[in-house]
Amino acid sequence: MTDIQKETSRKGKLIVVASSNGGSGKSSIASNLGVSLAQNGHKTVVLDNNFYFSDMHVFFDKKYKHNISGIFENYADIDEKTIELYLTQYNMKNLYVIPGTNTPEDGEQIEDEKYLKVINHLTFAADYIIVDLVNGFSDLNLSLLDMCHHMIIISNSNLNTVLNTKKYVDIVEQLNLTCELHLIINKYSKNKNLSQKQIETLLDHEGLMYIKNEEKLMAKAINIGIPAIILNKASAYSKKINELGKRVTAFSIGGE
Ligand SMILES: Nc1ncnc2c1ncn2[C@@H]1O[C@H](COP(=O)(O)OP(=O)(O)OP(=O)(O)O)[C@@H](O)[C@H]1O
Ligand SMILES: [Mg+2]
Repeated sequence: MTDIQKETSRKGKLIVVASSNGGSGKSSIASNLGVSLAQNGHKTVVLDNNFYFSDMHVFFDKKYKHNISGIFENYADIDEKTIELYLTQYNMKNLYVIPGTNTPEDGEQIEDEKYLKVINHLTFAADYIIVDLVNGFSDLNLSLLDMCHHMIIISNSNLNTVLNTKKYVDIVEQLNLTCELHLIINKYSKNKNLSQKQIETLLDHEGLMYIKNEEKLMAKAINIGIPAIILNKASAYSKKINELGKRVTAFSIGGE
């Protein structure tokens, strides 16, 4: 564990949203959960850790003054107070977004230790920091997992993804993390793919949250850059995201 991770006087809680397979719905869940937490009065920052193919700005269509590259350009001047100046407020109270890079070349400039330091600064600026994690177990991802309070693992309900999720969860369990694990089956469709019973047997896990397939709403949300939970707060998707928000905040009460 690095010195950065050892700092204990943090205020905000780190939430990482992860998956074994691409396209599972991480960025959608990270962005919508950000809205839900903000709507419930928690100051929340959402950011991308895919530095090569960032897309958080697509989920929140907005003019951004700074992205993660801007933070790195001004790294020497940034601390736990000045980090506030680099946050872009989304069109609502309590929600802030730091988009990723503009190009993969910009991604080359991001250094792991400095990124972790930025995350640490953010914990002084917000109640929740949601990191949309790039797939895999890079050193940076492992450090983020070590620091996090909540890990949300997203799977889909097709056999290949569930089998990979099982491998992923096994590795995460071997890491002996102190964070709360939330396992979600996203894009679930009752009559397609595996049944809930089959999924739970394959994953050997109980208490899974199922979020149903809502293609039309989710596609529209991305295409116009407004999170689904704002577009249609009565949708099944939005209700599940609010339920996830409640789980996260319930677990967070009472400290680390
Ligand atoms: N519950 C859902 N129902 C239907 N479509 C969904 C659902 N959740 C996400 N999607 C769609 O799935 C696609 C992938 O979603 P998203 O970009 O959030 O996944 P991701 O895990 O972040 O992908 P990547 O691995 O590329 O970062 C998008 O087109 C999104 O609209
Ligand atoms: Mg994504």
